[in-house]
Amino acid sequence: MLEAIGAALAGVHFGVPLAYYWRARGWLRRGWGIREDGGYAPRVTVVIPTYNEAENIARRLDNVYQQDYPRDKLEVIVVDSASTDGTADIAERWARQHPDLKVVVLREEKREGKAKSLNRALRLASGDVVVIADADALWAPDALRRAVAKLADPSVGAVSCVKKPLAAYGIEDGYRGYYNVLRVAESKAWSTPIFHGELAAFRREALEAVGGFPTDIGADDSHTATLIALRGLRAIVADDVACGEAVPRRGYHAWRIRRAQHLLQHFWKVLTRPKTPRQFKAILYTEAYLHVVNPWLLPAAVALLLTSALTGSIPAAALLGIGAVMTAYKPYRTWMAAQIYLIAAAVRNLWTKEIVWQKHDKSNGHGAEDPAIKASAPTPRGAEP
Ligand code: GDD
Ligand code: MN
Repeated sequence: MLEAIGAALAGVHFGVPLAYYWRARGWLRRGWGIREDGGYAPRVTVVIPTYNEAENIARRLDNVYQQDYPRDKLEVIVVDSASTDGTADIAERWARQHPDLKVVVLREEKREGKAKSLNRALRLASGDVVVIADADALWAPDALRRAVAKLADPSVGAVSCVKKPLAAYGIEDGYRGYYNVLRVAESKAWSTPIFHGELAAFRREALEAVGGFPTDIGADDSHTATLIALRGLRAIVADDVACGEAVPRRGYHAWRIRRAQHLLQHFWKVLTRPKTPRQFKAILYTEAYLHVVNPWLLPAAVALLLTSALTGSIPAAALLGIGAVMTAYKPYRTWMAAQIYLIAAAVRNLWTKEIVWQKHDKSNGHGAEDPAIKASAPTPRGAEP
């Protein structure tokens, strides 16, 4: 009996995400259903939130400067939360050296988290489109233009990027990992509930309509995009908008757990919303289930199977054996790791929300050619949270 329940839980744990993945792959064949307009060039405000980003900020500003978007339509707001490494000074110096781009540096007196800073910048932003650009990320040179072109369609409220190895961008259409496939597929089907602060472009009115960025939870990017989707505008990750991100060398597990904590906070909060557009229901509820509930089936199944195996059940021992042998397969290991991060995150959320998080050392993450940027490309499974 125990072994049957254990096997069933394991079946659900692996079966639901696999089934969802296959279904989502079908959505990939669909068109976008978006009327893109390459000539649409509204005023754009790029917001770069910073806390101790002295190593990255100049490179980040260079990368925005090099975008193939009309520079006179562009405004950059660097909003710095009392960095102690001179980030704001570097940004100001950079601004003086590039007088043909409007750059505003906002200095906050104390650090109260990214979302508060974003809201402060939002109040000053003059653009019709507001784009969040994490300081440790890089964009493909056409990323901004392509993201904005999609916002020309009035049904689209928010656009985010696929995380790719930037070095390979444009050369190969490329292998896409599990999470990028899901993000793009959900976006083609209608909208995705997971966004990337590395590049998150919003129609400004839509942002204002949802009250800006949430300051009580960590996933400012995903939550805001989802609130916009809940109001009926599409929130999409576009497959031709590419970004890369530095991955910490040290403290990698803590980093993954913190991000998982934020995603869980996001899904909990979203689930308390009364109304979900019909097209978004299956996607939102499945993703919420996959993040909040599904991970726990794994330890439950292992515990039941282990109990049965120890009391002499051969099938239970065999199943556990298969599970152990499968760890030779990398996507399986990556999946397992993601489940462990989500479980650890749920537990950690009981005492800390990590609204103001520890800064990780990503000092190896320089340059598009750099292995650290490449490493931010999705691995087959479990690359996020
Ligand atoms: N102004 C300000 N104030 N900026 C901050 C603060 C703060 O207190 N804390 C972090 N930032 C900035 C960082 O300097 C960086 O530019 C950006 O916010 C993202 O922070 P990272 O330290 O790079 O975090 P991450 O990449 O792991 O964060 C991911 O998850 C977050 C929420 O879970 C990204 O997806 C973020 O976009 C997302 O907000
Ligand atoms: Mn980051």
